[in-house]
Amino acid sequence: MGQVHSEILPGRVKQANMADYSRAVSEFRWEDVEKSFSWYESGKVNMAHEAIDRHVLEGRGAATALIYSDSAREEMYTFSDLREQSNRFGNVLRQHGIGRGDRVFIFMPRRPELYFSLLGVLKVGAVAGPLFEAFMETAVKDRLEDSGAVALITTPELLLRVKRAELPELKHVFVVGGLTDGGQRLVSYEEAMAAASAELEPEWLSLEDGLIMHYTSGSTGKPKGVYHVQRAMIQHYYTGKIVLDLRPDDVYWCTADPGWVTGTSYGIFAPWLNGVTNVVRGGRFSPQDWYKTIERFGVTVWYSAPTAFRMLMGAGEASLKDIDLSSLRHVLSVGEPLNPEVVRWGDKFYQQRIHDTWWMTETGAQLICNYPGMDIKPGSMGRPLPGIEAAILDDRGNLLPPYAMGNLAIRTPWPSMMGKIWNNQAKYEEYFRIPGWYISGDSAYMDEDGYFWFQGRIDDVINSSGERIGPFEVESKLVEHPAVAEAGVIGKPDVMRGEIIKAFISLRDGYIPTAELKEEIAAFVKAGLSAHAAPREIEFREKLPKTRSGKIMRRVLKAWELHLPAGDLSTIED
Ligand code: WTA
Repeated sequence: MGQVHSEILPGRVKQANMADYSRAVSEFRWEDVEKSFSWYESGKVNMAHEAIDRHVLEGRGAATALIYSDSAREEMYTFSDLREQSNRFGNVLRQHGIGRGDRVFIFMPRRPELYFSLLGVLKVGAVAGPLFEAFMETAVKDRLEDSGAVALITTPELLLRVKRAELPELKHVFVVGGLTDGGQRLVSYEEAMAAASAELEPEWLSLEDGLIMHYTSGSTGKPKGVYHVQRAMIQHYYTGKIVLDLRPDDVYWCTADPGWVTGTSYGIFAPWLNGVTNVVRGGRFSPQDWYKTIERFGVTVWYSAPTAFRMLMGAGEASLKDIDLSSLRHVLSVGEPLNPEVVRWGDKFYQQRIHDTWWMTETGAQLICNYPGMDIKPGSMGRPLPGIEAAILDDRGNLLPPYAMGNLAIRTPWPSMMGKIWNNQAKYEEYFRIPGWYISGDSAYMDEDGYFWFQGRIDDVINSSGERIGPFEVESKLVEHPAVAEAGVIGKPDVMRGEIIKAFISLRDGYIPTAELKEEIAAFVKAGLSAHAAPREIEFREKLPKTRSGKIMRRVLKAWELHLPAGDLSTIED
């Protein structure tokens, strides 16, 4: 049973009472949203056309589409500029025989060329696969191999992490930012762009054709390729309008990297489908740089994550001295539970009520949200958007009453629902094991007003700083280290990061448990997978709890960590 929460804060614009909400829900038709797209009449579908070209064709080409800034660069591009750059890159891809349905991966830090090339990939009907810049060799290889990527766009530094000799399907590599040795399968992005035509007829697709792939972690196996299709744009556009509340003059900033789904659905698609100015900040997090970004560009709508807000809170009032955040009109959060203290901090120091939103890589877009016009209960993810039906189900699919905790489920389908899991139909079907529903893997309860309250994950997936990490991937890397006999990985609660990764390790004979060895093992995971997958804590144990079939019981590790009873141990080995 969940707790009963009594605190209710009015929303930013107080207008929607329950009757208004019920009316909005019952009158809602996805078809009314679809009418906003040119393909509704023409039948010709292409995300890049809707997000970029259409604004140019309708006379808004001179509006600023992208503001890019980092410590060394500050650049602005109009919708016409983005159209030209993406056309050029589309032509480069076509010259290399790349087109409809091909997987083209992009492994680059946030910089304008990432956006140009991603849009170019979409223009020719290929499927974009953005990879987070912090990924190391194994993480990069697993994703390129599983997807069968034929092309990669990267930088000289990141290219060093790509094991091309082991990727026979990867035939084309475009290098951005100075190619010194134009060896085999390497093409200079700058040279190819300069030689390419700025005119291009996009590839016309159907709503079921591919759009983008994001790899995401479950509790077992390697990360899975969540494959989204063109129809997701219906929901990107709709939620951009009703949840982000985007209006033509907005300057919008989503702080997520396009390597994660928030950085594409809401860092590329939603803002540009709605024709607003999109701010991209390169470089690392720093409270000063972040506040300066809002001030300098007059950001009006800001979408970030609880970890970032907690770090800003941690930097305290002093970091707000001489900073003017009065341009802000709407602030939102996603990725992990948004603590009520953070909401109160936003009220006090940003004069903005931070709006929590819930969704997942697999769902493609926001589903349960606090959106303008509704009352906010701090700590709740909000209510399902008009057009979305959510429920709490038991494991057999029975609907549970208010306040009962169970599986958070969404009625199928909705426009941005994933098209498939790449190469893994069985995994895909697991999500839909209860007919008519998508099972999220989150547990939650609903209150009597239809607000949803997140309780946790049902599986062992770890959420550290809003990033999903599969324990299996980390464990697999750990046991590759010569000192490690066995490893079990759990999420340990952490005030700043939500959870941190903790590894329990038993050592091979002849290895002595020392602090240096812990550091060496953590560095090994960091170098193989990525910094965010490396354990922040390691504990050596003589033995790890295992089932009779030899599976490490993470549940027991978690109970050890939290000093809780370990529950049913009937399947334990000894
Ligand atoms: C968690 C990110 C609590 C949840 C868009 C979900 C949240 C997973 C919230 C998806 C929220 C996301 N409150 N938990 N508002 N939003 N989560 O795929 O466990 O990286 O299943 O997608 O993050 O993470 P993913």
